[in-house]
Amino acid sequence: MTAPHHRRRRLLTSDPPSLCWQPSFRTAFGSSVRQAGARRRRARSANHTQATGAAPISRARTAIFIVGVGGTPREGSTTERALLTALEGAESLHAHTQLFSGSFLAKLPIYEPQVRTRSEQEHQLVEAVRRADGLLIATPGYHGGPSGLLKNALDLLEDLRDDDRPYLHGRAVGCIVCASGTQSAGTALVALRSTVHALRGWPTPLGATLNTSGELFDAQGNLADASTSALLRQIGEQVVHFAQARRLRADQTRRQPQCE
Ligand SMILES: Cc1cc2nc3c(=O)[nH]c(=O)nc-3n(C[C@H](O)[C@H](O)[C@H](O)COP(=O)(O)O)c2cc1C
Repeated sequence: MTAPHHRRRRLLTSDPPSLCWQPSFRTAFGSSVRQAGARRRRARSANHTQATGAAPISRARTAIFIVGVGGTPREGSTTERALLTALEGAESLHAHTQLFSGSFLAKLPIYEPQVRTRSEQEHQLVEAVRRADGLLIATPGYHGGPSGLLKNALDLLEDLRDDDRPYLHGRAVGCIVCASGTQSAGTALVALRSTVHALRGWPTPLGATLNTSGELFDAQGNLADASTSALLRQIGEQVVHFAQARRLRADQTRRQPQCE
């Protein structure tokens, strides 16, 4: 499993390391613990914030919060590594992030509309997306489309249907596909973006398709190609920029005097 990013911490759950990470600040889930296996990325933890135990502050004052969903449960998943790079881009703009990796998604039950009970993992994912200011979603190209694992997780977002911000309303979503061929990568990206549209999200102008048939990553798990890395980081940045613009607009609207 790829080491998590330096600003991410594991949720206080019984999940084994690497399944689900959350940012280094107090959240609705309670205080977090330092993730034990954070090796490569934690070495870069210059801006790491300790959990304070303080109550969450108002939404307008909190950092932008970006949720990453995707990857495969496979050790060394290229999709997860690509997603982590995009999350790094978001974090470079001081966003807090939370990753729901392929291993985490594999713990979700198959979504069934008539079943109303929710597992702890389902609850965690839905609550994180509910709070999110933006998302990064990554999938392998499987038979020309996104993986069933990823789609199953997105189907669960039906739980957000009756929210004030239904589904992914008002959130930018960066879409990333890894496939061993260009054709599947392209069709899977289009399909993923269509799903994001259906969920009322805003796919970012940039999307990424990575051809994994070659050696994309070096021995340390870093992307060998600087331009691919820059693209993924840029997608993460676009998601944050959109969230910042939305927040600014909301602040301005609040400050405008009411007309009589
Ligand atoms: C069930 C399955 C279906 C796949 N279908 C395609 C495909 O249609 N086209 C393609 O280019 N690659 C296909 N692949 C290859 C994966 O997209 C590729 O290996 C991807 O990098 C896997 O992601 P991961 O490294 O995160 O596990 C498939 C792989 C699997 C396991």
